[in-house]
Amino acid sequence: MEVKHLAIIMDGNGRWAQKRLKPRFFGHQEGAKKIQNITESCLYLGIKYLSLYAFSTENWKRPQKEIDFLIQLLNQYLTQKKQIYLDSNIRFRSIGDISIFPQKLQAKIKELENFTKHCNKLTQILALNYGSKDELRRTFLKLHKNNSIITQESITQSLDTADFPEVDMLIRTGGEQRLSNFLLWQSAYAELFFTKTLWPDFSHKELAQMLEEFSLRQRRFGGI
Ligand code: FPP
Repeated sequence: MEVKHLAIIMDGNGRWAQKRLKPRFFGHQEGAKKIQNITESCLYLGIKYLSLYAFSTENWKRPQKEIDFLIQLLNQYLTQKKQIYLDSNIRFRSIGDISIFPQKLQAKIKELENFTKHCNKLTQILALNYGSKDELRRTFLKLHKNNSIITQESITQSLDTADFPEVDMLIRTGGEQRLSNFLLWQSAYAELFFTKTLWPDFSHKELAQMLEEFSLRQRRFGGI
């Protein structure tokens, strides 16, 4: 079976920088560059959906300076990527509650989504102020307000990820073995891969090896 939807928890930027006696910001900068690199790999490998955990609902607990830096990096990223997305036929989408971000940043996110809505080689999904529990809370509220019946299908179709297929494969870099509130519903049957490699060091080669291993795993979805 092939990987249609790959999700990645990009962990280890801070440690990567600390190992080099550099400030944590430096690691985030390298991490942002790695997004471009791995997105190109996914294009090459024929993956159609790539979800990336860029900013979680829990990341607000970080020092304000680091939060500001991440938001500024995101701003820069959205500006720089416009032409690259178009040229590479990449559709950009965001998931998460972006209403908390400054108006200008929200507009920029929407603009890039609109700008690339005809692109169809790969959909890159950035999780911004995203947490599965918050997504489910917002979804249930929406269904309740609309007097909708609650079924697995109606929930799936009302999540931020309504337009995307289930996650086939989930990778976490940086050595921890947990999901940290990322795409919990959507990853119910995902194959999980954990690597000690810190995100800025993650490579096409390692991704290709994991895909190779994925193809050897038997996915039974609860059957036999
Ligand atoms: C985890 O590293 C990384 C994050 C906070 C999320 C990912 C962010 C990026 C890849 C950079 C910014 C992204 C965009 C889209 C501009 P960590 O700081 O938790 O690392 P540590 O566990 O070593 O401290």
